[in-house]
Amino acid sequence: MASAPSSSAEGRARLIDGRAVAAEITAHVAAEVARVRAASGVVPGLAVVLVGEDPASHVYVGAKGRKAEELGFHSVQYNLAADTGEAAVLELVERLNLDPTINGILVQLPLPAQIDSAKVIEAIRPDKDVDGFHPVNVGRLATGSGYPLVPCTPAGCLILAKRALGKSLAGLDAVVIGRSNIVGKPMAQLLLKESCTVTLAHSRTRDLPATVRRADIVVAAVGRPEMVRGDWLKPGAIVIDVGMNRIPAPEKGEGKTRLVGDVAFAEAKAVAGAVTPVPGGVGPMTIAMLMANTFIAACRQNGLPAPEIA
Ligand code: GUN
Repeated sequence: MASAPSSSAEGRARLIDGRAVAAEITAHVAAEVARVRAASGVVPGLAVVLVGEDPASHVYVGAKGRKAEELGFHSVQYNLAADTGEAAVLELVERLNLDPTINGILVQLPLPAQIDSAKVIEAIRPDKDVDGFHPVNVGRLATGSGYPLVPCTPAGCLILAKRALGKSLAGLDAVVIGRSNIVGKPMAQLLLKESCTVTLAHSRTRDLPATVRRADIVVAAVGRPEMVRGDWLKPGAIVIDVGMNRIPAPEKGEGKTRLVGDVAFAEAKAVAGAVTPVPGGVGPMTIAMLMANTFIAACRQNGLPAPEIA
């Protein structure tokens, strides 16, 4: 007997509601924070450092601070001038490393050109590195040793992919497009840990459409508006779009813009099994996972059992 047509065969991928999943995770973290606070007096503390005036970074950092407050964290934000020197940033990081009320430190990237990002990241105490960018956390994730703090965006993408699939990822073909330290590389490591066969594609990959067409799971993190077309996708694939690109939208009026991902959403919807929208997909998950990481860091630093967030 023929099986029932899948949603993709009907040309209607399921939408992966990142906002709803993020709300569920933050509600869980908030409840755990309240429980731990009542039992032990521990209050997670998050410090966010922003250097310069980049408007998008200001928006992201503001959202992170507000969510931390909403969850009952101790939350502090440092806004440093664009011409701040590297030594001043390193000095602030060291102060936060030593501050017992701060469990998580996040220095928003990119940093201005006069500051060596690698130096700043390596100055953060690994157990307070809630971005998971410190080489100790990167190495632990890669080797499967110890307890890394895992980068927030890929951790959120993995949760969305797992929920969309509703079963083990083992043996599936995953293609990650983009090899950044923030998303692409850690995403590949996480999918490998789930026993996927992982291809990490990038700007020099030959025949990217053919590579993507093999994938059961596609994670697009290239920063190029609507680059991944519908006919690049295997029917039924799970598509996670990390892109956040602002493009002109003259149809909305002169000078107006709109936000699009790295995937041509309408086309993908006609082919994929499930797809994340932009906005409302991966974005809210990044903040939710930052809250989870800060809570996990606070638990570990206080000798308390840290929760598993999935
Ligand atoms: N810039 C863009 N994404 C991120 C992130 O996840 N963490 C930090 N620190 N900077 C970013």
